[in-house]
Amino acid sequence: MSEQERPPVTVIGLGAMGSRIAEVLLAAGHPTSVWNRTPGRADPLVAQGAVRASGVAEAVTASPLVLVCVLDYAAAREILEPVAAEFAGRTLVHFTTGTPQQAREMARWAAGHGIGYVDSGMMATPPMIGKDGARFLYSGSQDAFERYRRSLELLGTAEYFGEDAGLASLYDLALLSAMYGMFAGFFHGAALVGSAGVSAADFAEQAAAWVTAMTVGLPYDAEFIDSGDYTTADEQTVAFNKSAFDMIVQASREEGVAVDFVAPLQALLARQVAEGHGAASFARVFEGIRAGR
Ligand SMILES: NC(=O)c1ccc[n+]([C@@H]2O[C@H](COP(=O)([O-])OP(=O)(O)OC[C@H]3O[C@@H](n4cnc5c(N)ncnc54)[C@H](OP(=O)(O)O)[C@@H]3O)[C@@H](O)[C@H]2O)c1
Repeated sequence: MSEQERPPVTVIGLGAMGSRIAEVLLAAGHPTSVWNRTPGRADPLVAQGAVRASGVAEAVTASPLVLVCVLDYAAAREILEPVAAEFAGRTLVHFTTGTPQQAREMARWAAGHGIGYVDSGMMATPPMIGKDGARFLYSGSQDAFERYRRSLELLGTAEYFGEDAGLASLYDLALLSAMYGMFAGFFHGAALVGSAGVSAADFAEQAAAWVTAMTVGLPYDAEFIDSGDYTTADEQTVAFNKSAFDMIVQASREEGVAVDFVAPLQALLARQVAEGHGAASFARVFEGIRAGR
């Protein structure tokens, strides 16, 4: 396998995610250098053939492609800023989860030092990396992304969103928001049926089938949102859903279940009705969220 196909890579940050990233690249034949603040975490990778860098500067200069996956952006900057000069002319693919603004700031820092910058959102857990189902979102330098695309595809499906380095993080956090809404809704439902002694396992079966069936409604709601026209003739209006939500909140109180998750949604719906949008499509709640109130 040629060096062009499997260029040397460096992985900085060998926590659960970084270690698995390094393992996958190493197994695919990439000459792999590794560095971690706590050096012992590199031992299993060194045993598999990785080269242990003695410091960050050595790690960065070992490869044209440097992957960083640490706890947060503060840690990433603490590690990388002192070696900016050594980094010049190389590519940084940054996997640490952060906000779009943090990614954009990092991209500006990288551009100022002649470093190609690609930001990534990882839609995967450590065991998923390198297997079907792992999705990696990328944004930032398209040149750098295309140059190393084949290597990045070893980790999971690689989707590129554009030159704005904040986009991968924006999609990542938006998808997580949809996911957490589903999980929190499940926890709330489990507490409700749990008040009658129903097990969470029983409820999980019910909820999985229901939530899966409901996902067909997402493109339908998206049409209202994208057009900005919430006129509807069907029964899924703001007022209809407000009644349903009022009932959920009342039942929760009656059964002694906390309303921390459902009360803010009830308030969003109530505000839409108060503002005269009761007959509009349920999707109009989006406008209240977008307005940040
Ligand atoms: N785990 C997941 O399922 C998952 C999924 C998607 C995204 N993520 C994101 O991926 C990133 C890494 O997650 P992880 O699960 O691999 O975390 P982790 O297992 O807790 O590892 C954290 C890594 O960051 C390093 N680190 C923390 N503070 C540092 C500092 N000040 N200076 C240098 N190194 C520092 C740690 O080094 P030491 O070993 O020296 O402590 C370790 O290598 C996070 O941003 C996380 O949100 C994780």
